[in-house]
Amino acid sequence: NNKSETRSGKPLPPVVPHRVPILGKAVPYGVQPVTFLQECMQKFGDCFTFTMMGRKMTFCLNPDGNHFVFNVKLSHATAEGAYDKLTVPVFGTEVVYDVPNSTFMEQKKFVKDALTTSAFKTYVPIIIKEARDFFGTWADKKEKLELFPEMAELTIRTASHCLMGKEIRDQLHSNVAKLYHDLDGGFQPINVFFRWLPLPNYIKRDRANRIMTETFLKILKERRDTNNLESQDVLQSLMDGVYRDGSKMSDEAIAHMMIATLMAGQHTSSTSASWILFELANNPDALAELIKEQSMILTGRPDTPAHELPDFTYEELRKFTYLDCVMKESLRLHTPIHTVMRLVVKDIEYKGYTIPAGHFLCGSQAVSQMDAKRFPEPEKFDPTRWTESDEGAGEWTINGVDIAQKSARSNFLPFGAGRHRCIGEAFAYIQIKTIIAMFVREFTHDLVKETKTGKNIFPEMDFTSLVVIPKAPGYISYERRPELRK
Ligand code: HEM
Repeated sequence: NNKSETRSGKPLPPVVPHRVPILGKAVPYGVQPVTFLQECMQKFGDCFTFTMMGRKMTFCLNPDGNHFVFNVKLSHATAEGAYDKLTVPVFGTEVVYDVPNSTFMEQKKFVKDALTTSAFKTYVPIIIKEARDFFGTWADKKEKLELFPEMAELTIRTASHCLMGKEIRDQLHSNVAKLYHDLDGGFQPINVFFRWLPLPNYIKRDRANRIMTETFLKILKERRDTNNLESQDVLQSLMDGVYRDGSKMSDEAIAHMMIATLMAGQHTSSTSASWILFELANNPDALAELIKEQSMILTGRPDTPAHELPDFTYEELRKFTYLDCVMKESLRLHTPIHTVMRLVVKDIEYKGYTIPAGHFLCGSQAVSQMDAKRFPEPEKFDPTRWTESDEGAGEWTINGVDIAQKSARSNFLPFGAGRHRCIGEAFAYIQIKTIIAMFVREFTHDLVKETKTGKNIFPEMDFTSLVVIPKAPGYISYERRPELRK
């Protein structure tokens, strides 16, 4: 009898049965979360609990569930309770989930303050140049290119140059990329459940955190010593930021917040860029439309050869609206963060159930984004779904009004909602759109084919990593357009 277990007298959510104690449903959830959650929803409704690694996970699904989870009160459930074990060793102390939520919210604002339209205008030419230089290092043609690691490399270059400042970008070739990789090795989903597991990767992780921190501390000092305080980047914004109580972030905290920002944007962006290119390879009509759009906007003609296309500005990039639709549709199908979690700290009620303290409260945009009622033929890649819609569009605020709260009862939330909403959305659109626009003008590309059947091989989604990446190795074939060959 579920009722007797709660103080409020309201029953606990239905429980998904499992056979293996402790491990519970870790395997089906870990490997195919969307299918698993959809099956549970059919049997138990849109709120249910299952055990995983000895923890109770309660999911609230669909737009109502999204609204509930993303806007749950701080006094009821916290993100830091769910994520601190995972993130504090990677980012470092004094920031994000290592501090009270109100402090983190101010830190988020400092980062957000750097992501302005005037900064974006300077970022677009930087990303164009980085992309052109990077693609310039590729051979003219390859039958098989493993795409995700390439996109990861390009995103480290573009994001670090725009957000971290020129000094860090200049050091990339020496050690930052390697340090980044070591930090990443410590970012394992298993850490959500076990604190400080002594995995060998962690020695490298801790060392990488120390060296990265020292690198940023050195740059901070140089900027102050040389009075070079004009950069429009996140580092400068954190240096300038003043908390409401009049204090400032410590230098260590600034360094750690830089690491956190880098990590938050890296895989989410590189996987998104990869999925878009896989989807375009699989959908030649969408690809043709995209190339036509760029050509029309930049030259007024639909078929200008690539070597005659001029570079584009931030304003022109904003006019690539079909590209927006392509990106949204790809984010819908391959949402990088499929589940969000909070730790319940005080019993809460939801739809007649009590979700007790100690449970992980979970929402899944990946499930609501595949809802056939909202998205007919949900498996189909169809950018035109978005041509008339501004759902999920936009920024943290519109005309000064915070839209995060309003937008939470939605099927489409790849960037989350509420107090933990992503601050990187606008930057992610700029960075990813620029990379894709530069790629499609430089190359023709295709999926690799099965030898026997000649069928396209579209990579599966790997849900076991922290963000949903293409299962390795995911290949494309490509060829540089003849007019651009050396
Ligand atoms: C939060 C997705 C890029 C920084 C989030 C959340 C999601 C998300 C779903 C909410 C997590 C939760 O509620 O638990 C994405 C996607 C991206 C992306 C899909 C790219 C396609 C970026 C970039 C940055 C960034 C480029 C940095 C410039 C952050 C930060 C938070 C956040 C600071 C706040 C975490 C919190 O308040 O707890 N992101 N993100 N993200 N993201 Fe992003």
